[in-house]
Amino acid sequence: MTQPPFTFLAEFAAPHEVSADWLAIGVWEDDPSPSSEPTEPLDQLVARLRSSGDLTGKRLELLPLYTPTDVKAARVLFVGLGKKADATRLTLHEAAAASAHLGTTKQFQNLAFVLPAITGMSSGEVALAIGVGLAHGSDGPGLRKSAPSRFRPHRLTLVLPPGLEPISDQAIDRVRAEAHAVALARELVNTPACDLYPETFATIALDTGRLAGFEVEVWDEQRLAAERMGAIMGVARGSDRPPRLVVMRYTGNPGGPTLGLVGKGVTFDSGGLSLKTSEQMVDMKCDMAGAAAVLGGLKAIAELKIRVNVLGVLALVENMPGGKALKLGDVLTARNGKTIEVLNTDAEGRLILADALSYAAEQNVAHLVDFATLTGACMIALGPNVAGLMTNNDPWGDRVLAAVSRAGERAWKLPMDSHYDEMIRSKVADMRNTGGSRYAGAISAAKLLQQFIGGVPWVHLDIAGPSWAESESAAQDPGGTGCMVRSIVELAGGYQ
Ligand code: BES
Ligand code: MN
Ligand code: ZN
Repeated sequence: MTQPPFTFLAEFAAPHEVSADWLAIGVWEDDPSPSSEPTEPLDQLVARLRSSGDLTGKRLELLPLYTPTDVKAARVLFVGLGKKADATRLTLHEAAAASAHLGTTKQFQNLAFVLPAITGMSSGEVALAIGVGLAHGSDGPGLRKSAPSRFRPHRLTLVLPPGLEPISDQAIDRVRAEAHAVALARELVNTPACDLYPETFATIALDTGRLAGFEVEVWDEQRLAAERMGAIMGVARGSDRPPRLVVMRYTGNPGGPTLGLVGKGVTFDSGGLSLKTSEQMVDMKCDMAGAAAVLGGLKAIAELKIRVNVLGVLALVENMPGGKALKLGDVLTARNGKTIEVLNTDAEGRLILADALSYAAEQNVAHLVDFATLTGACMIALGPNVAGLMTNNDPWGDRVLAAVSRAGERAWKLPMDSHYDEMIRSKVADMRNTGGSRYAGAISAAKLLQQFIGGVPWVHLDIAGPSWAESESAAQDPGGTGCMVRSIVELAGGYQ
């Protein structure tokens, strides 16, 4: 984790007086005035560009202007924000990320973004979406290239034009914490499996906890055996890399309820003996994105000293087809004593989560959420950008869904009626680890997890799609997206 941190600044100034290498200015599709307080030189420029048709304000439209006159910044970037009534943290985050994505292809020092005024959103919230978005677009993989494609700017400046309600130091703290937590999660996902495996991931969790201020305990294979984690040990058997379980505790509200967060951390998913094809396997270093989101979330929560108690559990294994690997037909006994017949070793995520969820549910948590790159079926159902949300408790599911959408991320609820229970019925054990058919694959996976939550209100987020970007888009380099980190911070902020 070698990246230098970003420096965030808030600057109270008229946009044309801001000095920056790039000054990004949002433009609405349905409001001809610039997004900020009118300032003479920029107003005229925007009016001219609109009437010539060069600027429409449509979402993610980017219009760079080099050496503009009457403006202190070296370059101006107009970015479309879409329709005013549709503005959310998601649209602002993407606009800022797309601006930074364009502005960081060369080595510049300072990127600035003029915060727009939006009815119904505080400037703190606007600053959060745009600040985290700027950092997101400035960051990218390519660490292993000798000629990098993206250069991290030294400063990211949030410009508050006259007339905009000022933002507090705490608002900037939240921007900084969230941006760096997302960056950590993305870097973990982008790190190849030759460097990131259960032991190295656990060491990063220890270091992160020490710096951010939360407790971290790492369980090795002896401890896992002593704790009866038969499902985690079963999956790990096929690999030369030993498994780890990471238990993290943050107490910000002594005596209050505890939120349990569990992450799937398969540092590489070959499929095991149910081997994936090369095409299916090629990106499977991403299969620890759930664990990365939980670690990133805890880091931000602890740095921000949010008044909440969080238990974080990361199940870390490599799924490989070695000589001791799980065989089809093997039966595993999970921590809670339930038995699972393994009919496909590529359905390993639900196995390791069975133990991790059993443990978390025993720890007197009031609510549980797990994050897992669990099924390709979820991507078939919802597409690559939306997480599947499954729950045993609709009020808790709705609270999580609301936090996800406030945070500017995407999730959609899938049904969990009891008639799906049949899908995991086994002839020889308490359940089997596949649904038996291709249908409702995301739900049959969740149905297995539900056997291990001990009745605690629980949400399962299947992030197989949104945790990884297959190709480059306006707002995102290919690779890890850091998805659900912002949602975790939002959920923790509203949790008591
Ligand atoms: N890690 C995969 C799911 C996945 C697929 C994540 C694509 C990201 C992108 C998971 O372990 C898996 O292999 N699931 C199987 C389950 C099946 C064997 C029942 C799947 O989705 O095909
Ligand atoms: Mn798998
Ligand atoms: Zn997997």
